[in-house]
Amino acid sequence: MTYGCHLDDVVVFPDGLHKLGLKESMPIEITKAVDHLKVADFVHSLPKSLLTHVKGRISYLCTKRKKQDKRVSKDDKLICEVLHDIDGKKLSTLEELVQELLAREKERGSPKQGVYLTELRYQKKWYQDIEGGAAGYTKTVLLSDLKDRIKEPLRDLYVYWDRYDEGVFVGQQMAGSSLHVDQVQWSNVGKNWTGWKLLAVWPYGAPSADVLRQHFDEVFFPPLRPDQVRALHSAAKLVLVAPGDVYVFSGACAHTSLCVGESLSLSAYESFVNCNAEHVSVFMHTAKPPHFKDCWIDSRDWKDIREEVADHVDDTLRHYAIPSTNSVCVKRALLQGTQSEPLSGPQSKDLEVTNTHDTQQQPIPTQTKRRRVMRQDEQDKFRIVVRELVREDSTFAEFKKYAYPSAPSLVEKSNGGSVSSLTELGEVRYLDTVDTQTRASEDSKV
Ligand SMILES: [Fe+2]
Repeated sequence: MTYGCHLDDVVVFPDGLHKLGLKESMPIEITKAVDHLKVADFVHSLPKSLLTHVKGRISYLCTKRKKQDKRVSKDDKLICEVLHDIDGKKLSTLEELVQELLAREKERGSPKQGVYLTELRYQKKWYQDIEGGAAGYTKTVLLSDLKDRIKEPLRDLYVYWDRYDEGVFVGQQMAGSSLHVDQVQWSNVGKNWTGWKLLAVWPYGAPSADVLRQHFDEVFFPPLRPDQVRALHSAAKLVLVAPGDVYVFSGACAHTSLCVGESLSLSAYESFVNCNAEHVSVFMHTAKPPHFKDCWIDSRDWKDIREEVADHVDDTLRHYAIPSTNSVCVKRALLQGTQSEPLSGPQSKDLEVTNTHDTQQQPIPTQTKRRRVMRQDEQDKFRIVVRELVREDSTFAEFKKYAYPSAPSLVEKSNGGSVSSLTELGEVRYLDTVDTQTRASEDSKV
């Protein structure tokens, strides 16, 4: 989890919610309300005290013909239609969204398929501060997160961790996330309280780009078309997530999910970038090739995230007294990556990097030291990913000359998808993931 590479993989921690002490982190009002078969009933079962303070989106399956291929009607594809403003009237509350959903079902005389409540969270931020946890502002409805379960200094080794925007997802049978890559090329940790979920993940790079070109925004819904079956055969992993499972995958890989089984699916996601050079490199390729352009994050939001990373990296280097590239320069480099033009003038003096890789640790004022000290191997790994962050900053070539003279030899290659470091948190093993090779004879059963 902390150091390993899970690119092109899905790592499932069976019964992870229980083993990680996260089962009770979902408010009881929500776990009670999920005991229905329909999203509308779920929303109506939430207490007013919660309902009036949360927001979310509701989508359902609808058919749309591919514009680029008008040859045959078979090329109709299922996508998610999201309920939004109707005739200028903004549907902002969950109750309004459900009313609109029910009105459309009544008008059509049949229930919508694959109704999905997504990104359920509080409208306003609140300060979450549990004992031993990662205190901070968040909009999550959860009481605690995986981030809280990872102890310092291990938690600080993660280059980035977002639970500010953590969203809860509630899906009816055959609800799904259409094929996409995330707006930011980070990793996701999914926590699944109820229901079963199929997840397909494609290899990063060319295979993801290929499948996105052909099937972007499609929901893989049975009966599958032959081209969808072929696409699934090229997936890196097809996984069935069970109630109670916690699972990790990279959002930089093309992925799609489908809720299966009658009961409502209840899950939530946190996003992170771990201490692995390959994941850091992929993260830094957000909003540039090979990141699928239709999924790019807004440039201003990406700038905010980079600034957050810069602050965190700078803070960690300083407080743990990690001998590395001068932390001021690292921060400067990362921030500069958010500018359209390189900084110049007097600021260039700051770029005189103290290459302390082989030198003595720099003295850090006593008051900034934390009680716990990071192990040498942890420091080494963090230093490697910091150099990777800077190296990937293509807008800052000048800095690289100083800060990254011999880094390629330092960049640690991933260890083939091993996730043994999850054992820091508890037992981990692969769930029975369905290998695509063994699925050759099961074409249309997905
Ligand atoms: Fe995603």
